[in-house]
Amino acid sequence: MDVKTFGVVGAGQMGNGIAQVAAVSGLQVIMNDINDEFVQKGLKNITKLLTRSVDKGKMSEEDKIAILGRIQTSVDLKDMAKADFVVEAAIEREDLKFQIFRDLESICPPEVILATNTSSIPIGRIASQTKRPDKVIGMHFMNPVPVMKLVEIIRGLATSDETLTVTRDLAVKFGKTPAEASDYPGFISNRILLPMINEAIYCLYTGVGNCEDIDTVMKLGMNHPMGPLALADLIGLDTCLAVMETLYSGFNDSKYRPCPLLRKYVEAGWLGKKSGKGFYNYD
Ligand SMILES: NC(=O)c1ccc[n+]([C@@H]2O[C@H](COP(=O)([O-])OP(=O)(O)OC[C@H]3O[C@@H](n4cnc5c(N)ncnc54)[C@H](O)[C@@H]3O)[C@@H](O)[C@H]2O)c1
Repeated sequence: MDVKTFGVVGAGQMGNGIAQVAAVSGLQVIMNDINDEFVQKGLKNITKLLTRSVDKGKMSEEDKIAILGRIQTSVDLKDMAKADFVVEAAIEREDLKFQIFRDLESICPPEVILATNTSSIPIGRIASQTKRPDKVIGMHFMNPVPVMKLVEIIRGLATSDETLTVTRDLAVKFGKTPAEASDYPGFISNRILLPMINEAIYCLYTGVGNCEDIDTVMKLGMNHPMGPLALADLIGLDTCLAVMETLYSGFNDSKYRPCPLLRKYVEAGWLGKKSGKGFYNYD
């Protein structure tokens, strides 16, 4: 299957990063969000990163203009009718993703692969919203997308070999290394990462250490490039909470119980870097 036009639903921190790597690889891109403010914010971020590459001499101004020229913005999901492959990167809420997949099912021709960048929701549950479960797959990029090398590919029970091959090939085309995981809550990446982050938040909650000391221990003691609390802020605390909820309900095991402090921060709108405040301040 020859993918020429790549659709991205959601232009937030992951969606605009995915749109960027797809456009850099030479594909035509349609980047969709619910309103123009959000798509323009996404486009602004892409422009900023490409300009930085030009300033550093890593990209020519002509290439930057050509890449931006390949990105069409959209506030109407029906525009996805023109895409050969769609990846959904809207917020981590099951009901919302279900609705998007039901809508995409009616908008996109039946041969089009519908991928999701979900951090934890089982692919089979999303696939069951469509009449093409063989063409539904997890394509899980890491944050920040233009920098991180991994794409975790999650195959649902019904995902076909062809869907897997096309998705792997696209990840490679984007300059990424694919790794395959089975369809269980959190897959590999967040099954391991999020319980660690949640435990770091429990350390803060129970007074074992302050933010700086918790992060310093993990950076200097465990050689992690970022501390878990700074990483949680980067991921987005709403996403972290959503993943922990999925692990908790998916495995029905109290060891995955989200820390009450994480829930409190999300309820207060302290979502991390994207809202300007989380465990650290970003003003
Ligand atoms: N943040 C991370 O580190 C990370 C890493 C891997 C995967 N993910 C996953 O990627 C997805 C997006 O996360 P994010 O960090 O980019 O969140 P974000 O909050 O930055 O962006 C989400 C975007 O989705 C848009 N949106 C909401 N409803 C929509 C709809 N019906 N149609 C189109 N767009 C809609 C929002 O307006 C927003 O712009 C989530 O499923 C998340 O779990 C996040």
